[in-house]
This record gives sequence, structure tokens and C-alpha cells, in this order.
Amino acid sequence: MCHHNRFLLLNVAKSDIISLVFQVDETLCPFKLSQEQLQLVKARMRAGLEAGLKTKGSSAIKMLPSYVYRTPDGTEHGKYLALDLGGTNFRAMMVNFKRQNARLYHKIYTIPLEIMQGTGEELFDHIAQCVSDFLDYMGMKNAHLPAGFTFSFPCEQTAIDTVSGTLVSWTKGYKATDCEGHDVVSMLREAIKRRNEFDLDIVAVVNDTVGTMMSCAYEDPQCEIGLIAGTGTNVCYMEEVDAELSKMCINTEWGGLGDDGSLDDIITPYDMEVNQNSINPGRQRFEKLTSGMYLGEIVRQVLLDLTRGGLLFRGHVTETLKTPGIFETKYLSQIERGDMIFCDLANCGTNSLLSVAIMIMDFIVMQVCGAVSRRAAQLCGAGMAAVVDKIRENRGLDHLNITVGVDGALYKLHPHFSRVLKDTTEVLAPQCNVTFLPSEEGSGKGAALISAVARQIGQHRGRYFSTWRVSVCAHNIQFRRELAKGLGRDTNPTAALKMLPTFVRSIPDGSEKGDFIALDLGGSNFRILRVKVSHEKKQTVQMESQIYDTPEDIIHGSGTRLFDHVAECLGDFMEKQNIKDKKLPVGFTFSFPCQQTKLDEGFLITWTKRFKAGGVEGMDVVKLLNKAIKKRGDYDADIMAVVNDTVGTMMTCGFDDQRCEVGIIIGTGTNACYMEELRNIDLVEGDEGRMCVNTEWGAFGDDGRLEDIRTEFDREIDRGSINPGKQLFEKMVSGMYMGELVRLILVKMAREGLVFEGRITPELLTKGKFETKHISAIEKSKEGLSKAREILTRLGVEPSTDDCIAVQHVCTVVSFRSANLIAAALAGILMRLKENKGVARLRTTVGIDGSLYKMHPQYARRLHKAVRRLVPDTDVRFLLSESGSGKGAAMVTAVAYRLAEHSRQIAQILSEFRLTTEQLLEVRKLSQWCVCVCVCVFPCVLCHYLTPS
Ligand code: G6P
Ligand code: G6P
Ligand code: BGC
Ligand code: BGC
Repeated sequence: MCHHNRFLLLNVAKSDIISLVFQVDETLCPFKLSQEQLQLVKARMRAGLEAGLKTKGSSAIKMLPSYVYRTPDGTEHGKYLALDLGGTNFRAMMVNFKRQNARLYHKIYTIPLEIMQGTGEELFDHIAQCVSDFLDYMGMKNAHLPAGFTFSFPCEQTAIDTVSGTLVSWTKGYKATDCEGHDVVSMLREAIKRRNEFDLDIVAVVNDTVGTMMSCAYEDPQCEIGLIAGTGTNVCYMEEVDAELSKMCINTEWGGLGDDGSLDDIITPYDMEVNQNSINPGRQRFEKLTSGMYLGEIVRQVLLDLTRGGLLFRGHVTETLKTPGIFETKYLSQIERGDMIFCDLANCGTNSLLSVAIMIMDFIVMQVCGAVSRRAAQLCGAGMAAVVDKIRENRGLDHLNITVGVDGALYKLHPHFSRVLKDTTEVLAPQCNVTFLPSEEGSGKGAALISAVARQIGQHRGRYFSTWRVSVCAHNIQFRRELAKGLGRDTNPTAALKMLPTFVRSIPDGSEKGDFIALDLGGSNFRILRVKVSHEKKQTVQMESQIYDTPEDIIHGSGTRLFDHVAECLGDFMEKQNIKDKKLPVGFTFSFPCQQTKLDEGFLITWTKRFKAGGVEGMDVVKLLNKAIKKRGDYDADIMAVVNDTVGTMMTCGFDDQRCEVGIIIGTGTNACYMEELRNIDLVEGDEGRMCVNTEWGAFGDDGRLEDIRTEFDREIDRGSINPGKQLFEKMVSGMYMGELVRLILVKMAREGLVFEGRITPELLTKGKFETKHISAIEKSKEGLSKAREILTRLGVEPSTDDCIAVQHVCTVVSFRSANLIAAALAGILMRLKENKGVARLRTTVGIDGSLYKMHPQYARRLHKAVRRLVPDTDVRFLLSESGSGKGAAMVTAVAYRLAEHSRQIAQILSEFRLTTEQLLEVRKLSQWCVCVCVCVFPCVLCHYLTPS
């Protein structure tokens, strides 16, 4: 390497030395980045990451999904082969995972340049030959092992289960023909077939960053980033995605930063030269400033320049110095470590003058190397600062502790790179505590781990779950369209969302008081409550309640029997409360879609959930209940309001938080209501103020809008329900159906031998045996797997650990889809509220109730996260309704009662005047304005008295 004897410079004067150092310093100036410049690089990297996530592949930073959803959890086991292509060497590896321990055997093979740049077929034949040699070496030629393929180039993947990776473009030194745009897994499989000597089951293809992250995460669960600083450079990290699972590892391909010109202000003429001479000019601009393949070349360009300027080697540019690739990055590491000096003093004899000259030259070369490598490490640090800050913000944290798994020759061999990288990251991301963990065994172990994960769960997911991954954004857009359609007079009749006016115009204002009864029918419990609202020092609520049975034969019998039963329970409750002689105002929470034209009337449109009592649909439930009460004759009740449970929930929460303007239920069924501007509700007269609208979102998709994501299991559930073709959204997301969805999936998986060794028990075949509460138990983070074992054992199967993991995965897939779909719809409502108010930032509260939301260990967190991601410019508070919707129904009743009392008093006053028809007509003329004012407050009374009979 040292061609020193030809480069020597002699007779250096002191002033020349100073001038020389000064000029060299000037030449290196563009490599010295200021703090401001590094901040800018960080900001550009961040913008690049965001743009890549949005544009899905068409921006400078590609942000390629890896379909790796989780880091290892220690349950991985078995023997895997790992093939590792794309770094300095090709490596074949065998990994045996056993009880949180991994044993590795590997062999390294070189890939000759002519193969790297020959044809694709030659390249993959060469790999197949290396694998064949390795299997011989291991004595495993006939083992048909599962294999993970680390392929360290940008690849587009669809899902890990389909095991394919389309090469976007070669990087680094590779340029084999007929590979770009092709699936590299198929190419490898074909090469193996051509050899016809052994077979492999390729279960995963991964980028080296992902392999490195997984490999390090096996040791440190905090590792959620993978960094390569080697021949090439790249980063992957666990991004919060709105797919079926909350996180997915994204291969950023950050080497592409600057391909759109965004780094032009820091790119030096030497970098431009290196770029021009590369196999991919104009691409991987960040990589070309920072990675091992290029740093040596940059140094050579600077040395060439210094020599041409007469500052080095007496201005003598040798052929050697002109040779591309002659100055390798590993020499740069060695020179900076002091292990190697550019000009070997031994060859200079004892001539002291000569020694000084050579020392100066070495000093200059060292300066050049230092500037180039320092800039590389600083740029990677700036990039890393952008990544960790993004993760911190994604998670809404003030402070983030995170580990970065690192690999690559530059990081490992260079004496200062790792320190400068860490220091820069720390300075530019002060709110993150970043630990860099060097990968011990390369990314092959990670690829094997991903294969193990893919084997355990991915295989099943590929066959069963590809349609379960729903696009939250697409459904959010659709849902918003449906909302608008339901509100329009002409479009409402054909709209799936009925957007029912509720005649509730405001949330509680604190003036409510009185003694009320609330009936609460339609959730998993039928409840009767006594709600006393008093105003001593401040408004306080006292509640007593009792749950009553609603047996199957009653909810499926005749309407008359159902309402007789309700009236009977109410009588019993009043008896126990000692109020049978009072006529208390009653609020009726009736959790089904009802058409209303006023508060105390509700025509049932259709039964949902478990209810199917005959002769009720199309009838006014208030009348039916009144009739049942009258028939008994042992007490009297004044039903003043019928409210949906969503409205009750919004009112309950509105009692505690005046900002509450949305109510949602995620329980047996699902639904939402919100405060809409009256001017937008075509179905109700008037433009001023707001009214609560019951969306009945459970019916979303009843017009076919969800067909593309409904699975065979959703269709089976619908076929076996009391209302086929109706409430299709509800049947995909709510508590009444989720357990059954899981059961149907498990039955099919068992039939195909994928779980329970193919055994199906009578319990497993019984409808309703797997309940949604079981999903909640199985998804608990600590005891989830033991719960799975317990529940499956009760279903008569003897599950293995793998079975429990698979069942847990099925539960997660089903509940994630639910949370994502609900998030899409809820975000639609929030976006509408924001639009209505015309504010840049919405501050609002959503009242929530329902057993699924309350009992599932992860549901609320997932839902909140997905909603916040969809409507980032909103401060949304999710308020759990602690006391059910009965309290809210009592609040609505209190307002209705106050208005009714007013009406009664006025009626009383007017009746005392006993006016004639003529007199009334006269009064009416005179008091038109009064009618306008008063009609909102006591319409029936004035109409009655001011309209001549
Ligand atoms: C790891 C991986 C390789 C990867 C390499 C980068 O060891 O197993 O697949 O490409 O790091 O290092 P290098 O410095 O060789 O490019
Ligand atoms: C609240 C209400 C019920 C409502 C229920 C939904 O508690 O008071 O009327 O239907 O939530 O929950 P569930 O999970 O029982 O369907
Ligand atoms: C490739 C990446 C790879 C990196 C490190 C880059 O050239 O585009 O996919 O991760 O090198 O090996
Ligand atoms: C009903 C809604 C109700 C929801 C939650 C649905 O089946 O149609 O009216 O709000 O369940 O209980």
C-alpha cells in the first residue's frame, strides 16, 4: 500500500510547514460541520423520514416496511439457517435457539467482484454453491432447514409471510444484471433448484439493519433501532404504524437522504467526484458521505487535490494515487489508530530532514482521514438524533431510553467513529438516552430470530390474516363521507349511517336537580337506577341501582312480554325504594336505534345485538312501556325521555367535563353520538345551536362499503346472527362477536392441522364457547399465555406452548382490527367537529363506556394512539363513564322535567283567563314575536292556547 518512496518531499522550511498546515486546514474546512449545520441535517433527516412514511417509497428516504412486528421475546426455538449477503462478506450460519440461548456456527465466503457485477443468475448460483458447501460442512444437506435471508439492499416487501423482496436498486459495490425490480427470494429459490442438491424453506427475507436490531434485542429488550455503519449505512426502527399491530420495523434506507438535493449545501467537490465515479451516480448521497465504501475514496480525492496543488508529494501525482479504490477505509481506521503510517519511516533511512518531511506528510494524511471520518460519524449522529426524537415524539414521551443495535466495519474498527457518533447524538437529541450496543454475531442471528417468529405466528398470519390488516386512513375517509350522507335530507334514505336526531341540545349545565328513575336496557345488563340530583353547596348525585335478569325467552319472545317484564322489574324496584306511591320522572336508556321527533318518543327502527322481541320494530317504545305500566295499575310513572346509551354516556361524562361532546360505546354492541350543528342536520328544522346526533355507526358497511375487508369468518358470523346483512361494522368490532370470530378462526386452523395438532373438541365447535372476555384475559401482558392455556384446556384441548402463542396472536389480530376500525370512525367524528368549529386545534372530550373497552388490557391504549395519530391537531381526552349511561339519562330527564314543569305552570296561568276563540286570535296577532321567542321553550302549551280549535 505505501508507495511512499515515490512521494517523498524534501527540504521543508519552517515557514513552509506553517503555510502548508494552513492550506491543508483550508482544504478541509468544508468537512468541518458546525452545530447549526448538524441541526439542519437532523431536521432534514426528520423531514425525510416523515415524507418517506407518507409517500410510501417515492421519496429520497424510502421507509420500507419490514413486516417485522415485534422484537424477540425469548420464546423462539429450533434450528435455523441464516444467509447473509451484502456486507463485506457472504456468511452462512446455523443458529440453534434453545431456552433463551442461541448456539451459532458459521462460515465466511468472499464474493468476487466479477460475480458482484456479473449476471443475477451467476450471483445466486454462487450463493447456492456457498450454501451447499456450508451444509456439507455442517453435515445437514438433507435437513430441509427453515432459513432467513439477510439481504442488505433496499427491498420492497409485501408481508413477511409471502416471503418476497423486490430489489429496488443495487447499492454499494453490487451491480448484477436482471435483479432490480425482481424478487430476490425467488431468484435464490431458483438457484437452489438448479443445483438440485439440497432444499431450504426460506421463511424470511430481512435487511441487515433489521437483522442487527433483532439480534441485539435478543440480549436487550430496549433495542428498537438497528444501525449499520459499514460498507454501506442504514437504519431501521420500530415505528408506530396503523396496521394490524401497533409497531412495525421500518427499514429507513437513510442512505438515500440528499438524493433530492437536500444535502447539496454540505457536499464538497470531493464528494461530487466520488459520486460521479460510483456505480450509482446521484443516488445514496448520504451513504456516500458516511459509509466505509466511500470514505477511503473521499480521502484519496482530497490527497489528489492537495498533491495537484503542490502541497503533497512535491506535486507529483502518481498512477497509484490515481487508482480508484486504492485507499481503503480500513487503512483510514488503521492510520487514525496509529497502527499504520502513510509513509513507512523504515524506508527513509536516517536522514532526519527526510524523517521530518515524512512525519509532516503523515500528519497531513491523518488530518484528512480525521476530517472525513469525523464528518461521517457526526452526520450519522445527526441522523440518529432525528430517529430517536421521532420515536420519543411518537410515544408522547418527555424522555426516551433506547438501545441501538449496531454493526458494520466502520463502527467496529474505526478508533473514534463510535464516540463521535454517540456524542453527536447526545448533543442533538438531549431528551434521549441512547445506548449503542454492538452486535456480536452479525445480522444473521437476527434473520434466524425473525424466521423463528415468522414460523411461530407469521405462517398462520399469512394464510389467515392478510385481510385483517385494515387501512385506518382509507376507512376514516369512507366513514366521513358516510356521516355527511346520513345528515343530508336527500341522501339519508339510502345512507347506511342513519344519523338519528336525539332532541338533546346540550350537555348538563349544572342546574339539573330532582329525584329520577333511570331504566337502562340493551347492554349486557338490564339495570334500574334511582338518581337524586341535589344542589346544596354544589351539585351532587346520589345513585342506587339494581340489576335485573333479562332471560333469553323474554328478549326473544313477544314485545308485550318484554315490556311487561320491564314494568314488573320497575314495580319491584319502586317497591324496594318505597316510592310506589310517587310519580317520579323516568329516563329510559334504550340502547337500540330509534327514530325520534321529540324527547319522549322513540320508534324502534330495528333490533340489534341479542334482542329480537316480536312486534316492537316500528313501534314507539315509550308507548309500549306506558301501556305495560298502566296494565299493571299498581304504580304510575312519567317517562320523560328516551335516550340511546351513547347519549346517556356523553351526558354522564358531560356532568364531569363540560367539554364532552362525543359519546361512544364499545361493548356488546358499538355506537357513537356527538353534538352536530343544527344547520347541518337537514332532518330537523332550525339552524341555530347544536343537537346530539346518534350516528348508529354499527350499521357502517351495510351498503357494501366494507366488503373488501370482511373475511369468511365475518360472513359466517353474520349468517348466524339474528339480523343478517345488518350491523356489519358492529359485527366486526364489538364484544358480542369478537370471541366468536376467534373461535371460528381456531376451528379452521385446527382443521388444517395448524394448531392443537389438528384436534377439534365438541367445546371448540360450540357457538359462544369462546367469549370476548377470554380475548381480554389472553392478551394480558404477563399472564396472557398461562390464561390461554387455562381457557384452551377448558375447551378440551391440550395446548402446547406454540398453540398458546398462536391463539394469543389470533386474539391480537382480531382485537387490533377492532380498535383500528373504531379509531377510523371516531377520528371521522373528531375531524367533523373540528371542521364545524373552524378551529386550527380542537380540544375536546370523548365519553366512553362498554365492557370491551373497559376490560381489554390493551384496547384503550391502542384506540387512543390510533385516534391521536389520525387527528394529530387535536387534544382529545378520553373519559371513561364510571357510572353507566343511567346517570346521563337522568340528566336529560331533569332538563325535560324542568321544561315540562314550566309548561304546566304557564298552562295553569293561561287557563285561568278562559279566553274565547276571537280573543285568542287577537292575542296571537299581537304576540307573534312572543311566539317566536317562546316556541323553543314551551311550544306545546302556546300552540294549544293560541291555536283556535
Ligand atoms: C453485519 C451483517 C451484514 C452487514 C454487515 C455490515 O455483520 O451481518 O449483513 O451487511 O454487518 O457490515 P460491513 O461493514 O461488512 O458492511
Ligand atoms: C353502559 C350503559 C348501557 C350500555 C353499556 C354498554 O354502562 O349504561 O346501557 O349499553 O354501557 O356496555 P355493554 O358492554 O354491557 O354492552
Ligand atoms: C443498503 C441498505 C443496507 C446498508 C448497510 C445500503 O447500501 O441500501 O439496505 O442496510 O447499505 O449494509
Ligand atoms: C345499537 C346502538 C347502541 C349500541 C351500543 C347497537 O347495537 O344499535 O343503538 O348504542 O349497540 O349498545
